[in-house]
Amino acid sequence: MAKKTQDFVCQSCGATYTRWQGKCDACGEWNTIAEEGTATERILSAGPGRPPRKGKPFALQPLAGEQREAPRIASGNGEFDRVAGGGLVPGSVLLVGGDPGIGKSTLLIQIAAALAGAGHRSVYITGEESVAQVRLRAERLGLTALPVELAAETSVEDIIATLSQGKIPRLVVIDSIQTMWTDMVESAPGTVTQVRASAQLLIRFAKRAGSAVILVGHVTKDGQIAGPRVVEHMVDAVLSFEGEGGHHFRILRAAKNRFGATDEIGVFEMTGGGLAEVANPSAIFLSERELGAPGTVVFAGMEGTRPLLVEFQALVAPTSLGTPRRAVVGWDPARLAMVLAVLEAHCGVKLGGYDVYLNVAGGLRIQEPAADLAAAAALVSSLAKTPLPADAVLFGEVSLSGAVRPVAHAPARLKEARKLGFGRAVVPEATRGAEQDGLSLAPVATLADLVARILPGERGGRRQPRAPAAERD
Ligand code: TYD
Ligand code: MG
Repeated sequence: MAKKTQDFVCQSCGATYTRWQGKCDACGEWNTIAEEGTATERILSAGPGRPPRKGKPFALQPLAGEQREAPRIASGNGEFDRVAGGGLVPGSVLLVGGDPGIGKSTLLIQIAAALAGAGHRSVYITGEESVAQVRLRAERLGLTALPVELAAETSVEDIIATLSQGKIPRLVVIDSIQTMWTDMVESAPGTVTQVRASAQLLIRFAKRAGSAVILVGHVTKDGQIAGPRVVEHMVDAVLSFEGEGGHHFRILRAAKNRFGATDEIGVFEMTGGGLAEVANPSAIFLSERELGAPGTVVFAGMEGTRPLLVEFQALVAPTSLGTPRRAVVGWDPARLAMVLAVLEAHCGVKLGGYDVYLNVAGGLRIQEPAADLAAAAALVSSLAKTPLPADAVLFGEVSLSGAVRPVAHAPARLKEARKLGFGRAVVPEATRGAEQDGLSLAPVATLADLVARILPGERGGRRQPRAPAAERD
């Protein structure tokens, strides 16, 4: 009996089917299954009719052995190296995803050039542009003097054969994995099977030769790296390059990293001369602040090991709809819902008749629960039309009981606030005593405490609407 082939592949998760169907049973996506030819099986087996290869025994190693820290090659680009975990690890494969036009090619030609400048062999393979286009970009970036080796190629077999000649490159950039194809499978470039097979070959090359390989990956409409999720599992690190359309800031974030932390971010600014590193992001994110506007507060956050001050902006306005709107940009909508519920249940702040909008300025995306207090303060400040003091920062996590809980790295947050000229900080009660020279603390035990300071007469009846921090100075 002929072997049944699995010709239909889900373009979202890579599950295979023998016939077409509308919905993928594996990931639940609709209309993602496409015919790809008899492909998948052949990568896994040696081919029809051939007997399976006999395995060769290999030596096993004891767990205790000579310890070797993965040596890293610093690219010299501080922001990139920070996100990569300190530099590129030889033999590792990175996947860099991001929207079209966000600057992936720009960033990677800069990294390739930086490494070439430091005397390492570095190769940039593009499947999207011509060599002339890459040269033109490099010219704009002033990198043409550096010995980066370029090629416009899409055949993985040819690429690997070329790279295996001569001195093994330290860095290989493949822009992008979706344009690559291999003879091993029959489906068209860009399909899940091709992407997966090409990635597999390139990963095998990286491990064998010891080169660091960076794959560029396209991003689908909903922000996923296109192609099978398995590619994300196959590579050592997944970095995403993000930015808001109207802003010049770009943020490089690690979604997965086998060789480093995933909470570090790299901040860049897109300039006429390429991507510039932003060493002091707080100053940039606060540079367009409107002082004294109700509904805006400054959150003292952390991104990885680095403190980062950002502005939270809220607008609370009476609704004209049956169901009020809740829109949030740059923060978790579920946390907004929770903060609204706590304000309502424990602080007597009724927002059922109001539309609520919350925005993190500068296009940044905040994930920390420590931002709860800042978000709540922005909401209450907008509702009361009462600006908070311009020289105050806030941080603290709000629990469902309405208590303000301590957060990690309080001293680092306070230090950054003082460095940027802030004079006071609204902090969780447990952080009392962490004062710094020139920075006074206003500890709050509950969210109701904070609300009472902003809204006079609601709870606690204190009448100092404009000075949430001043009372305990
Ligand atoms: P690019 O790196 O081609 O994006 P991607 O590879 O992610 O698709 O970046 C393209 C954008 O970057 C383009 O809109 C122009 C802008 N850009 C600058 O602003 N300055 C520069 O020096 C360069 C090279 C690009
Ligand atoms: Mg590109």
